[in-house]
Amino acid sequence: MTRHAEAQQVLSDPTVSTDPASPGHPMPAMRPDDPSEEELEIRRRFQAGQFIDMDPPEHSLYRRMLIPEFTVRRVKEMRPAIQEATDLLIDDMLKAGSPADLVDAFGFALPSMVTCALLGVPYADRDFFRARTRKMMDTGVGSSADGIAAAIEVWHYLDKLITEAESEPGDDLIGRLVTARRETGELTHDAMVGMVFLLLIAGHETTANMIPLGVHTLLRHPDQLAALRADPTGWPLAVEELLRYHSIVDWVGFDRVATRDMEIGGQAVRAGEGMFVLGASANRDPRVFDRPDDFDIRRGARNHLAFGYGVHQCLGQNLARAELEIAYRALFDRLPALHVIGDDDDLPFDYDGVVFGTRAFPVGW
Ligand code: HEM
Repeated sequence: MTRHAEAQQVLSDPTVSTDPASPGHPMPAMRPDDPSEEELEIRRRFQAGQFIDMDPPEHSLYRRMLIPEFTVRRVKEMRPAIQEATDLLIDDMLKAGSPADLVDAFGFALPSMVTCALLGVPYADRDFFRARTRKMMDTGVGSSADGIAAAIEVWHYLDKLITEAESEPGDDLIGRLVTARRETGELTHDAMVGMVFLLLIAGHETTANMIPLGVHTLLRHPDQLAALRADPTGWPLAVEELLRYHSIVDWVGFDRVATRDMEIGGQAVRAGEGMFVLGASANRDPRVFDRPDDFDIRRGARNHLAFGYGVHQCLGQNLARAELEIAYRALFDRLPALHVIGDDDDLPFDYDGVVFGTRAFPVGW
């Protein structure tokens, strides 16, 4: 589905399923050719919390438990921790000196540090956590032996972290989940590990990829960057426009199947037929966005589908917006001479990934 209206229709129709086990789903649950016993065991145990692959009412049960963790108010409380992590990373860049790869030195590191703060990962474990999540994302969570090995280490780590919180819950997301679980008894230990792993996966590569892409786009539109420097109140809308313009989660992330016969945009779709929603195309639909291929921070594009639409709309979107705004502002404030090194044609864009991005972005300052 390529148009904005039909994309919204598919993503909000309760008779359209996202469950990979639904007959006809276009992306059946990932089954590697020769999974190890350990991997099979992990997938079996922690599948319970993967609510991105569930339909209501089961989906709502899990999502509801996490909503309070991502409200505007809660994210506002997290802003100092995001700012601190951002400043530390820029301090390190300044210490190491120009040039740097912004993907490595900043893009991938920030979401990992923010996830540590969100989940309550102890300081002593943060380097381990950052290294493993980097490896897991860099090598493909489910698609390479190295990626799977790193993912297994992360699963075991989260399992341990949650077990510890079960005896002594802290004042963080995991601590609050543990406490809620005690009160209602509706969440198993394994489901909790699965949910937390999903948060990590969903929030990491997405934010990590948006940071370099956004910096690149702003450097290539110096007039708009100058306007933001002169009037920083424009940042929130600039972030929305960057999200629309890049639409980094596209068809692979919007895999669905019809569970009844239906009509979408004049096209008959039968029960059991798979569908992909082309998010990037919907976000450049000229019926909704004037001059859709132009990057324009003044357009005020809040109705984009970069965070999806309907019941699965991104749970972490407030957090993502805060991370992006803080990161862009700090990078351009503290590195006033920030510039791209090399030719755009040489940037290693990852067109085949689940999430669009560049695997490296050399910058100087
Ligand atoms: C720029 C950053 C981000 C982008 C572009 C993004 C995009 C998306 C999109 C398009 C979906 C919907 C997928 C679907 O309909 O099947 C989604 C779902 C989700 N996102 Fe994000 N996301 C971002 C950051 C985050 C962060 C920071 C977190 C949390 C730490 C997060 C957690 C989630 C979760 C848990 C879901 C599943 C929601 C559900 O199924 O109910 N995301 N995201």
